[in-house]
Amino acid sequence: MYRDHNNSELNLSFITKKVTLSGWVQKIRDKGFIIWVDLRDRYGITQLVFDSERTSSALIEQARELGREFVIQVEGEVLERESKNENMSTGDIEVLVEKLTVLNSSETPPFTIEDKTDGGEDLRMKYRYLDIRRNPVKNKLIFRSKVSMAVRNYLSQQDFVEVETPYLIKSTPEGARDFVVPSRMNAGEFYALPQSPQTFKQLLMVGGLDKYFQIVKCFRDEDLRADRQPEFTQIDCEMTFVEQEDILNTFEGLTKHLLKEINGVDVQDFPRMTYDEAMKTYGNDKPDIRFGMKFGELNDVAQHKDFKVFNEAELVVGIAIPGGASYSRKEIDKLIDWVKRPQVGAKGMVYVKFNADGSLKSSVDKFYDETDLKAWAEQTQAQPGDLICVLSGEATATRAQLSALRMEMGNRLGLRKPDEFAPLWVIDFPLLEWDEDTQRYHAMHHPFTSPKVGQIPLLATDPGAVKANAYDLVLNGNEIGGGSIRIHDQKTQAMMFDYLGFTKEEAEAQFGFLMKAFTYGAPPHGGIAFGLDRLVAILGGQESIRDFIAFPKNNSGRDIMIDAPAPIDEEQLKELDLKLRS
Ligand code: AMO
Repeated sequence: MYRDHNNSELNLSFITKKVTLSGWVQKIRDKGFIIWVDLRDRYGITQLVFDSERTSSALIEQARELGREFVIQVEGEVLERESKNENMSTGDIEVLVEKLTVLNSSETPPFTIEDKTDGGEDLRMKYRYLDIRRNPVKNKLIFRSKVSMAVRNYLSQQDFVEVETPYLIKSTPEGARDFVVPSRMNAGEFYALPQSPQTFKQLLMVGGLDKYFQIVKCFRDEDLRADRQPEFTQIDCEMTFVEQEDILNTFEGLTKHLLKEINGVDVQDFPRMTYDEAMKTYGNDKPDIRFGMKFGELNDVAQHKDFKVFNEAELVVGIAIPGGASYSRKEIDKLIDWVKRPQVGAKGMVYVKFNADGSLKSSVDKFYDETDLKAWAEQTQAQPGDLICVLSGEATATRAQLSALRMEMGNRLGLRKPDEFAPLWVIDFPLLEWDEDTQRYHAMHHPFTSPKVGQIPLLATDPGAVKANAYDLVLNGNEIGGGSIRIHDQKTQAMMFDYLGFTKEEAEAQFGFLMKAFTYGAPPHGGIAFGLDRLVAILGGQESIRDFIAFPKNNSGRDIMIDAPAPIDEEQLKELDLKLRS
């Protein structure tokens, strides 16, 4: 037996007991006559002691041979410690070693296995198995497991059936590029890895399964960011005989349950905001509503003077930064430089200091008097002491720029508190989205989403105005889930493909199986998918999903530990009937 206790279990109730422990050598302190070794495993640390008065010299010599991260087994007696450590569960005791077995030696690790390590990101990724030994990473993986388990329990209790859908499929359009897999047995043909199990879960509803869920890997070849990985996990769900209201209630229930179970937080019923309102008020379809700084549109109160920049703009819009009136000229210039960075893309920024004494002073005093500025302050809900920042230009771009500034200031002012949770539903998404590159409409969510009742005729006259039965769940400024009520009749689905620019033949080739299924009594259905990685990261108080994934990819989509992607050899290429361009 390697151990009879783990390294967090022993306390004063074990005094004089003989125990066997195993683990890694965390730290060695050699005082000459006495040697302490911290023994670590997943559960904690136990202090071992070798002492020249009570330990044989052979054993002391053996202890001196140990190095960091050696794997050892010890047998010994539990003693009360002289100087106790209240911060450790085993801080009252130590184990006087009587037998030491080295189970494996270790090279000196390339970075320290401590909560605060000296290892840089790349190094830690290359030696991810060592990084996982560190508490911050290990705890995040354990946390993820806890969340997944809570999800499974909750959904099973609600009668959801977990079904696995295939990974080797045909392209599903979720808006990203597919990862493809060549088929050896069908030379020249390819599978696509699923961007989501969307079509399969709909077929499960046609199959009468009624309530489906799956914690499932999805694959998307898209540009990576802190909250995006090329392979990520969804909690994918679908229900039959439901309307939007039923879905929102069911998954609000799941989210509330998780916040309670995992974070011990009770949240009120989630507010609902239309997409249009979210864009107008926060410039963003995933607003962080933990803090204010709502947008104030200023066209009416800023386009009546000779300031050409504003007069020519589609939108003039501002926010009030709490306490910003006290910023120095230099600080404000820095803020202007910040919004002009290419990542944000504003051309410039107009500002108004709403001084504590109620006076108003702007960077465009030449054009606007106090009465004008008062109206701006009203529109942006500014208080004395605030700095009103105003951007202008094409509406969509300007909203995005001001939203970036709002989030940045939210961060800088500490308003985005990780232990505060502000979920909301964003509803009434547009069905279609204009794509400048291809000069045509694309499905904003996916082509299986149903338009709102009665809006189908609008498709012919004003496609951009058609709203969908689609919704996103937003938590602390992150889109953690999205879904829709689906089209379930063959005719509407065929019409939708037509609007999206698919020829009959293309629609048949790609989605004939689904449209066929719709002719065999497809029930009304709808669903949602949560991004598990994002959900877990946010419940864990962070926004980067990488540490909550055991073996993540870096920003170029590489796994630098196993060195993938990698070339394959000639033989394999030949078997797959593939040729590389030389
Ligand atoms: P959608 O494309 O909105 O919907 O995806 C659902 C959720 O998955 C998460 N997500 C990601 N997480 C990490 N890395 C990525 N690259 C990534 N892409 C998406 C987000 C998102 O909200 N089939 C539909 C769902 C449905 O209609 O039921 C779908 O996949 O949190």
